Amino acid sequence: MTSPVVHEAINRQINAELSASYAYLAMSAFCARQNFNGCARWLRLQSQEEYGHAMKLYDFLLARDGAVELKGMAEPKRDYESIASVFEAALTQEQEVSRQIDMLYELAFKERAFAATVELQWFLTEQVEEEKSTREIVAKFRLVGDDPASLLDLDRELGSRTAAQ
Ligand SMILES: [Fe+2]
Ligand SMILES: [Fe+2]
Repeated sequence: MTSPVVHEAINRQINAELSASYAYLAMSAFCARQNFNGCARWLRLQSQEEYGHAMKLYDFLLARDGAVELKGMAEPKRDYESIASVFEAALTQEQEVSRQIDMLYELAFKERAFAATVELQWFLTEQVEEEKSTREIVAKFRLVGDDPASLLDLDRELGSRTAAQ
């Protein structure tokens, strides 16, 4: 049995992962409206990944005999200045989630919730990967700037993302 304070924090993280999923879905819809269908695909798959993260914590909480308490979600940002700014926002979001995971890990450790720390190690590793891949995309958008041909290439590249990635 894990401490109630850790259970509460995991419930908050489930909400954060679902909120990230929702935000990515709104980003995907924005890109699709601009006919950047490769970007839209990448973001839609990312939305699914975040849903998967939420469910991983959801399953963990139930396995630890904890109560899942789903909370309300804020309406995600709908409009962006550009496709590039969508990915800038994605990077900021990933950095914020990394900070949340760090704090959650620290709390679990302090509360001697060791099983939770093991579960959260997966998330620490995942955040390194997610920040890295998003940062690389942001760098590419900065590089291509407003060049239409390069933007189309980049859109095509992002559209090649597969679900397992
Ligand atoms: Fe996540
Ligand atoms: Fe993420």
